[in-house]
This record gives sequence, structure tokens and C-alpha cells, in this order.
Amino acid sequence: MTLYHGVAPLLFQLDPEHAHDLAMRGLAAVEWLLASRFLPRPLTHPALSQELWGIRFPNPVGLAAGFDKDARAAHVWPLLGFGFAELGTITAAAQPGNPKPRLFRLARDRAIVNRMGFNNAGATAIAQRWGTHRQPSSIPIGINIGKSRATPIGDAVADYLRSFRQLAALADYVVINVSSPNTPGLRDLQTPAHLVALLSALGAENDALARGHGLARRPILVKIAPDLSEEALPEIVAAVGRGGASGLVATNTTTQRAGLRTPCDENGGLSGAPLRERATAVVRTLRRLAGPDLPIIGVGGIFGPLDAYEKIRAGASLVQLYTGMIFEGPRLAARVARGLVELLQRDGLSHVREAVGKDA
Ligand SMILES: Cc1cc2nc3c(=O)[nH]c(=O)nc-3n(C[C@H](O)[C@H](O)[C@H](O)COP(=O)(O)O)c2cc1C
Repeated sequence: MTLYHGVAPLLFQLDPEHAHDLAMRGLAAVEWLLASRFLPRPLTHPALSQELWGIRFPNPVGLAAGFDKDARAAHVWPLLGFGFAELGTITAAAQPGNPKPRLFRLARDRAIVNRMGFNNAGATAIAQRWGTHRQPSSIPIGINIGKSRATPIGDAVADYLRSFRQLAALADYVVINVSSPNTPGLRDLQTPAHLVALLSALGAENDALARGHGLARRPILVKIAPDLSEEALPEIVAAVGRGGASGLVATNTTTQRAGLRTPCDENGGLSGAPLRERATAVVRTLRRLAGPDLPIIGVGGIFGPLDAYEKIRAGASLVQLYTGMIFEGPRLAARVARGLVELLQRDGLSHVREAVGKDA
């Protein structure tokens, strides 16, 4: 029982989106105080620190996309114990998202349903605001990009390219979100032909930016849905190989509603505890299909160290969480990272990389 568990019932009296806005406003205020003054030291440990894609991750517990959609608190996340943070989803065009209400707490299921619909200030505005006073963060920052709602699926490649051009220089890695259930048609981009075309175009742009600006190529990862069929996963892994992506993020929210205690007929994506097993199964399948050389970020239903460890043993090199933090509080990432050290010790492992894929 933490202090947060005492406060949560009061917070849960608030409308979920209002509570989120309040939290983000507080975090943005801390960001403003911090950003130009000092960089918080990240939580790290010799057993947890690892290098992937040439980037040093102080610990493997990251913030999942969707919490900090407008990149307002990049320097605050390490204060909460996160070893990296994924900001966004950001789209090329600014957009308001779906009409409210669009965020629903399913308390008895420790779950959330959301149909936010990529509400964000748009790549240009975010790059301008953030780029001017972007200090390097003390943790790796990923930027997650998605398709603008107004852009037809046939023009999706150009839309992603616009965002990539604006934002790649600010990110340590870039995630292509083709799996939100809340932008009509978006998940069709998971089909092999679309995915290879998208990844090839982004890869070429990545090379051009690297040549033109002397930047290192940004690792590009693909974030996939938990609702893909078993037959679709080998196709995704093959497309990721052909398109030259550097990794996978598994998984986004699910459109499934099986086994919920809270009656919920709201449309949108379900996250949290009911997603955990399915997301872990997808990580395991991807690891078996892709082998040890393609890093996977495992996400879905992490509420404590054991849940994170399960994802890592299934094949994830890094993990992320969102819904767990709503129910367990802002110190969850720190608790998970510290708990991972204990679990590795328990199993006689000296480094997290030794656990990756052990149960695949
Ligand atoms: C309110 C909300 C908004 C989200 N927005 C995004 C988003 O913009 N982009 C994205 O890739 N994932 C988004 N997600 C999905 C999360 O990043 C994550 O993949 C999913 O929630 C499963 O993790 P969890 O069970 O720890 O929440 C969102 C999730 C929630 C709950």
C-alpha cells in the first residue's frame, strides 16, 4: 500500500481525461523548472544498463506512448525512475482527436478503454517548441509518429515522412504507429505491402537526413496490435526485415473485450491487466520468429516487477507501461526497475540481457 493507493480513490472521482490533464500540467510545470537547470540522474544499476542500437538505456523500463502526447515532460520521466520515454503519438497535422468522452477507467479490471484519436499539437509545432529548448535528456527519448486523420490511407507514406523529417533529429529512436484502433484504416498499414513501402520510404529519408545533417541514422521501430492473427505475425516479421526496421513494439491496445468484469460497450482500445497475457504471447511469438537480433519492446499490462520480467523472459529487451501507472502510481517505473534487479539475482543472472528470451 503506497501513498498513491490512499489518494487514488479521490483521483478516481475525477473524469479520467481531466485527471490526466491535471497530471500532465503538473509534469509540464516540473519540466519548465527543470529543463534549463539540471538533468536528473536516471535510475540505473549494472545489471540493468544496456546498449541497444548504439544507445545506452540506464534501465529497461520505459514510458509507453500516449501519456506525453505533445512532448511536454521529456526531462521529468527520469525523475520517476523511467529508463527511457516514448513521446507521442504525434501526427503531421495538428488535430483535436475524437469527441469527449473518449477515456474510460475500468477500475475492477485494472484497465482503461480509450479512443483519444491522436489528439496532438502536430509535428511542426511540437518540433518548434521542443527543439528550441531541447536539452539532451538523461534518458533515451523515442518519438512515436502516426497518420493524420484527414490524410487518406493512400497518402499515408507522405504523411509519416513529414512527421519524420520534423522530429527525427529530436529523437533517439522513432516508432511507426500502425496499430492504434482509433484512426480509421490505420491498422491496414500492418499488411506486408503497406509496411514494406512505408519502411522503405522512411529508411531512405533516414539516410538522407543522416547525410545532410551529419546525424546518426535513427533506429525505426514498428508498433503492432495485439489483435493480429497468428498467420499475420510471420508476415510482419518478414516485412520488418525487408523494410529495414530496427525493432518492434508489442503491443498497442486491443479491440477485444473478453472476460471483463466491468460492463463496457465503449469503442476504443483496451489496455491494462486484461491485455497482459496476450501482449506477452505476441512478444514470445515475435522473438521466436525474429530470433535474438531484432530488439522487441514489450508493453501491455505491466503492474509490477513480475509482469515486466515475464515480458523480458518472453523476448523483450525493453518494456513500457502506461495503465499500470494510473492504478499503481507515479513510482511504478522505479519499483519495477528495482524489482527486476532482485528477480535477476533470484534466478542467478547477472544482467538483464541474460534473461531476454529465456522463456521464448
Ligand atoms: C489513454 C491512452 C492513450 C494511448 N495513446 C497511445 C498513442 O498515442 N500511441 C500509441 O502508440 N499508443 C498509445 N497507447 C497505448 C500504450 O502505449 C500501450 O501500448 C498500451 O496502453 C498497453 O500498455 P499498458 O497496458 O501498460 O497501458 C495509449 C494508451 C492509453 C491508455
